[in-house]
Amino acid sequence: MSDKLIIFDTTLRDGEQSPGASMTRDEKLRIARQLERLKVDVIEAGFAASSNGDFEAVKAIAAAIKDSTVCSLARANDRDIARAAEALQGAKSARIHTFIATSALHMEKKLRMTPDQVHEQARLAVRFARNLCGDVEFSPEDGYRSDIDFLCRVLETVIDEGATTLNIPDTVGYAIPELYGEFIKTLRERVPNSDKAIWSVHCHNDLGMAVANSLAGVKLGGARQIECTINGLGERAGNCSLEEVVMAVRTRRDYFGLELGIDATQIVPASRLVSHTTGFLVQPNKAVVGANAFAHASGIHQDGVLKARDTYEIMRAEDVGWSANKIVLGKLSGRNAFKQRVQDLGIALESEADINGAFLKFKDLADRKSEIFDEDILALFSADAAGQESEHYRLLALSQQSEMGERPQAKVAFAAGAVEHHAEAQGNGPVDASIKAIESKIESGAELLLYSVNAITSGSTESQGEVTVRLQLGGRVVNGVGADPDIVVASAKAYLAALNKLHSKAERVAAQG
Ligand code: KIV
Ligand code: ZN
Repeated sequence: MSDKLIIFDTTLRDGEQSPGASMTRDEKLRIARQLERLKVDVIEAGFAASSNGDFEAVKAIAAAIKDSTVCSLARANDRDIARAAEALQGAKSARIHTFIATSALHMEKKLRMTPDQVHEQARLAVRFARNLCGDVEFSPEDGYRSDIDFLCRVLETVIDEGATTLNIPDTVGYAIPELYGEFIKTLRERVPNSDKAIWSVHCHNDLGMAVANSLAGVKLGGARQIECTINGLGERAGNCSLEEVVMAVRTRRDYFGLELGIDATQIVPASRLVSHTTGFLVQPNKAVVGANAFAHASGIHQDGVLKARDTYEIMRAEDVGWSANKIVLGKLSGRNAFKQRVQDLGIALESEADINGAFLKFKDLADRKSEIFDEDILALFSADAAGQESEHYRLLALSQQSEMGERPQAKVAFAAGAVEHHAEAQGNGPVDASIKAIESKIESGAELLLYSVNAITSGSTESQGEVTVRLQLGGRVVNGVGADPDIVVASAKAYLAALNKLHSKAERVAAQG
């Protein structure tokens, strides 16, 4: 059996299914480029048939990415599979990932199909996909809760039809490590042609065991692919977290004995990018990528680490990409220095106009903030900020007045398409007043689900504030992110960014899982 462990990243597909995490084509492309730098083996770029936006995103990623395989999800029907193949046409290395539910519950209640019908549909789907692509993954959705005899029958058939990877999802996060590991092992033993395909694990985190279950699937079950997402992003409690499984396999190489292609120094930049883009903050005590993951606060620990690092550290912060906040640029930095730093951060600026536009924004920020860190540059390029000119709602000006004991008020000027609005309002605080001013003109009717402010760089009140706003309207949940040294301005930007997402009506077919 191979000792290479394939890392299949599904941040852009399963991660994106998390309510409010939906990303634009450009946001997805930027994250895909970072995943390529991280050297993940497979990037699941989206679900091409779910919407035109996702089709375009998969297509753009397929054209841009050269060092990772690019994959699209597809339900087990000809239309979805043909659409995935079309989106993947430009890829250097492509994979179609087709799925159909196999648990009694899903077949009866959701699909309203008999087991024989599901079996036949899986066969035809994989046959059709193999005619279009040499690399085909099959997933029996809710596989872990499926009848094992039926599952073995389906898996044997799809291998015969040419499936190259078999992925066994614990779709609802119900598994327990030993049991899941045993389940994969049993499947591999009972499916007669099991050695003709690579076995993969896909675990959700509803009981907080996605990482443990995935590792058990590898160690006990013999799987050689793990499906995971950056920061564990995903619906409900999320997916198996990439940074945790990767660092577990790497740090405990003595136990797992497996090879990884990953460049771990790209983990923290990837985590930050996904968090900036989606507005899903990383909890401070999150393993590997949390702000406290390498912070030793207690005196005893600090003393130990100073004497010998490995007294309390099993990994080195720099090995996963943590670096002290570095002042990279300032007010006097020129266009070339800026362009170079942007390139070093892996941000692709396509045209001279892009560079010039970004440089103006940088200069504007540098006028207001003396030290510019990598995080500030990333925030400058988070698509909510970068896309402002092309967006429907754009912040033009904001002023506010607040004084202790007085009711704050704000004046906001913003564009809605070609129309310029000027509004004033009072509120409990300057942020509230600004949002009320915006709403006095738009009357969106959206419900505010979340408002949070975070310092982009720690340890200084000079940091830019990064605000996340989550809005819900008519069943849609969207996140908007805005950054600025002035948190009231950042709040207004974030609010308008969320309204922009609600404004773009893109509806999509949801994949289960
Ligand atoms: O969790 C799940 O079952 C999925 C499948 C679509 C692979 O995400
Ligand atoms: Zn899933």
